[in-house]
Amino acid sequence: MNDDIECVLHHETTILSRLDGMARDIMRDYRGKELTVVAILQGGLILMADLLRRVQLPLQIESLSVSSYHGGTESTGTVTFNQTRLPDLNGRHVILLDDILDSGRTLHAIRGRFEAECRPASVRICVLLRKRKQRACVVEADYVGFDINDEFVVGYGLDYRGRYRNLPYIGVLKPEAYQS
Ligand code: IMP
Ligand code: MG
Repeated sequence: MNDDIECVLHHETTILSRLDGMARDIMRDYRGKELTVVAILQGGLILMADLLRRVQLPLQIESLSVSSYHGGTESTGTVTFNQTRLPDLNGRHVILLDDILDSGRTLHAIRGRFEAECRPASVRICVLLRKRKQRACVVEADYVGFDINDEFVVGYGLDYRGRYRNLPYIGVLKPEAYQS
């Protein structure tokens, strides 16, 4: 797996110390509130584990499986909910947790359904990465780990065709890795 990586954007130690800061921001904002964190699977899984162990607040954890890529490196624009049941978020302050904000369509669709169907007290968005895009993103993130250039990255939860999620760092794939 490591041989397929062109360059490392953020090493594990850098990611973890950034998570310390994000956890502090979340603790400042949610102390005394009924917090539920919803991780978007599969990409948000590693972030959830590392970030939430740093958040010293009572909270509930939920997850939601969606697909927006269907295997390639471009978002298809359609977000498929892989489960019919939505979490019970009635009256809860919700943080949606995902690996990356690209076009924003995925998180926009999820937040829209939560607000329409789950009666949350509030919904905020937390991502590890945000791509600097030419076109405006359809949602604003409230907590962001790192801004990155508009290139395809893997590792730390992010995949290409289901691979590389378990790399401990965030890296850019070599072009030949797309062809194989
Ligand atoms: P959006 O709906 O365009 O914001 O896409 C968000 C989803 O696309 C994320 O949850 C990721 O699963 C996936 N994605 C976007 N950019 C990348 C990338 O550079 N590498 C891997 N997955 C990505
Ligand atoms: Mg994802």
